[in-house]
Amino acid sequence: MSRVLITGAAGFIGSHLVHSLAAEGAQVRAFDNLSSGNLENLSGLRDRIEFIEGDVQDPDATMAACRGVDYVFHEAAIPSVPKSVADPIGTDGPNLKGTLQMLEAARTAGVKRFVFAASSAAYGNNPELPKREDMIPEPVSPYAVQKVASELYMSSYAQVFGLETVALRYFNIFGDRQDPSSQYSGVLARFISLMSGGECPTIFGDGETSRDFTHVDNVVQANLLAVRAPSKASGGVYNIATGHRVTLNQAFDAISRVLGFEGRPNYLPEREGDIRHSVADISRAQDVLGYRVSVSFEEGLEKMLRRD
Ligand code: UD1
Repeated sequence: MSRVLITGAAGFIGSHLVHSLAAEGAQVRAFDNLSSGNLENLSGLRDRIEFIEGDVQDPDATMAACRGVDYVFHEAAIPSVPKSVADPIGTDGPNLKGTLQMLEAARTAGVKRFVFAASSAAYGNNPELPKREDMIPEPVSPYAVQKVASELYMSSYAQVFGLETVALRYFNIFGDRQDPSSQYSGVLARFISLMSGGECPTIFGDGETSRDFTHVDNVVQANLLAVRAPSKASGGVYNIATGHRVTLNQAFDAISRVLGFEGRPNYLPEREGDIRHSVADISRAQDVLGYRVSVSFEEGLEKMLRRD
């Protein structure tokens, strides 16, 4: 039975990993500073997992958390482009220094493999589509810089210290337990929450901005594959997405259809730091990790809306 550490465990993606790994019989240590995560996301599991309240920037807490662990899934972050624009320095600590601290703790503890929640924000506004991992990163927002710099630290720790690392570049992940409550929340969670209550959402820009919206079940699968993949996967960066893009107008229409919503969105100017289009080439993840899209955008949306 493997022993795993999940950072950001009380958050959206982290909690999905905790649930899946616990169901698989792994010994799960969940780590979160509860700044944005919520223990309710781990409800029903508290007697089956170990929970540590701690910060990824804290050397002692991260060293203790990594002790005796085989695999680390590092999900903790402030996952917001506009927040990083509003506070570049405040977000750098959790997003970049926290990654370095986790890598240091993991290699000191002799962890076998370190899997990281990287971001498609790395590609920035390079107009070439779909995005391939061999493109030169062109990060725009401070958030994107923090995620790309984290990937570079991963690759450094793989080469210099021999720590096996896998960076998964997530493309706009959505699903249950995503917090819809703030202006910084992911756009689908925000739309669904507002429209379910009969309110019209806001679209920044003309609505033709597009994203490769990816249901969280695909991300969980990718993480499980990342620790099982052969050593040649180590040191690599992999797009985790569906390979299809959906515009904000199309997403709005799809949610309207399922909810029977008849309002129209409010259009406001584009947000600073936003990128225009994003869609992934997922062939590297397919070839090296054995990744397959298990839940499409439409299926994911229905899964999420059925719960509301
Ligand atoms: C998202 C993730 C980020 C991840 C990245 C990967 C969130 C909060 N952010 O960033 O962690 O690394 O994908 O590509 O999940 N929008 C609206 N109305 C709203 C909210 C947003 O029109 O009410 C627009 C935004 O201006 C943007 C698009 O929707 O054009 C997507 O925004 P958002 O969901 O915040 O995601 P990203 O910025 O792409």
